[in-house]
Amino acid sequence: MRVAVIGCGYVGLATSTVLADLGHQVAGVEIDREKLGKLAGGQAPIYEAHLQDLLTANISAGRLAFSDDHTASCCDADIIIIAVGTPTRETWEIDLGQLESAVDSIAESLEARDESLDPPVVVTKSTVPSGTSDYLRERLTTRTDRPFRIASNPEFLREGQAILDTFYPDRIVVGAEDEETFAALNELYAGIIGQDFDDPPPRPSRPQGFSIPVPVVRTTTRSAEMIKYAANAFLATKISFINEIANLCEEVGADIGDVAYGIGLDARIGPQFLRAGIGYGGSCFPKDTKALHQHAGSRGYTFTLLNAVIEVNRIQRYRFLAKIRRELKPLLGKTLGILGLAFKPGTDDIREAPSIDLMRELVRDGVQLRATDPKAIENARRVFDECEYVENAYEVAHDCDAIILVTEWPEFVGLDWGRMAEAMRGNLVFDGRNCLDWEKLEGVGLKVVGVGR
Ligand SMILES: NC(=O)c1ccc[n+]([C@@H]2O[C@H](COP(=O)([O-])OP(=O)(O)OC[C@H]3O[C@@H](n4cnc5c(N)ncnc54)[C@H](O)[C@@H]3O)[C@@H](O)[C@H]2O)c1
Repeated sequence: MRVAVIGCGYVGLATSTVLADLGHQVAGVEIDREKLGKLAGGQAPIYEAHLQDLLTANISAGRLAFSDDHTASCCDADIIIIAVGTPTRETWEIDLGQLESAVDSIAESLEARDESLDPPVVVTKSTVPSGTSDYLRERLTTRTDRPFRIASNPEFLREGQAILDTFYPDRIVVGAEDEETFAALNELYAGIIGQDFDDPPPRPSRPQGFSIPVPVVRTTTRSAEMIKYAANAFLATKISFINEIANLCEEVGADIGDVAYGIGLDARIGPQFLRAGIGYGGSCFPKDTKALHQHAGSRGYTFTLLNAVIEVNRIQRYRFLAKIRRELKPLLGKTLGILGLAFKPGTDDIREAPSIDLMRELVRDGVQLRATDPKAIENARRVFDECEYVENAYEVAHDCDAIILVTEWPEFVGLDWGRMAEAMRGNLVFDGRNCLDWEKLEGVGLKVVGVGR
């Protein structure tokens, strides 16, 4: 199929690259000059495992190209996927500006479309409140009388595993109002649904136990849009829940690791998203929970539970900061090392990363900061420059009064902590993700402070 993908960020780039790899002819549209410059030169502007190799292979094969020309990219496409950003405003209301601008460009491309071609399916992959597809349909209809179809196809990929998740999703959700649209999306994803491809590198290997065919949820656009928000709200709820239990564990002398393991063995609960720590960050959970709460409010419904989830998450990083202040007081003049800047391992994304909030507060306390991250230093430096960024953890540790682990990169978990201890001036390690082997650290003379232990 001929596919246009509008917006080549984390989602759009993973989508366009994988669809090209499955044999579709894909035109990626991106308006950010810096990103487009890199893409035009065959370089991935973001870090995701497997992405660069797949990008190179598919550009070379002539199946994938990038431009800022919406009309040229969309006017002969069978499928037009919108993957632009949907940030929230200060009021938590979702800002549909990027989406509206994309839709207006699609209207222009429809005007330029050869009338002999079938109408394209305009697919919203961006995360949007329930009812947005109807709004987009209306908006398009007021701008063009050319035919088109509308579908909602929310994205569930996880940053850090974006390519893996796109090849091997848990499910594909399609919201549409007619059979032709469902059929078009089925054709688009046929390779993925039936796993009708081999997986030699640069494709990641199929995860063990992966179920084929991939379940496809066929529903209305409104339900599809709600599924995405409900999924993220539920996962965020699990994180805030376990963090509250962890806080309580500290009060009663229980161990959150054992408690989480004990409840996670219950098949109704499951073990995932039960690691206590300094709370969730990233480009999705914070904005999607707020947007859903605000959206509910705009319909006269007070989403009490979600409000608590958001508040617990906001407070969690400050509780952790309070521990650092208590253990290290006075902070003035101390040197602290930060391990991890990305909001989670496997990505260079620092949007809403706890590391940045933490560093801002610590600098106000008069602390000298030294930080590292395998992939996110460049992005962190752009938003926060009051820190010395260094290449590796051992440089971070040099003459440090304490280390704060913020992102659970395997590189940090597997450090030679004896060497770290030798390089440090102090002996405190704050394990913000409860991911370190405390016994090992204590064995080399370090004192570890975590969450709920
Ligand atoms: N990042 C994730 O893990 C993830 C997962 C699932 C869903 N989502 C959702 O997918 C959407 C995109 O997220 P993202 O993280 O990829 O965002 P992003 O900010 O990384 O990418 C969006 C891109 O769209 C481009 N853009 C904006 N307007 C454009 C236009 N009119 N034409 C062409 N390009 C345009 C921007 O320059 C940017 O590069 C959001 O709604 C997000 O909530 C994200």
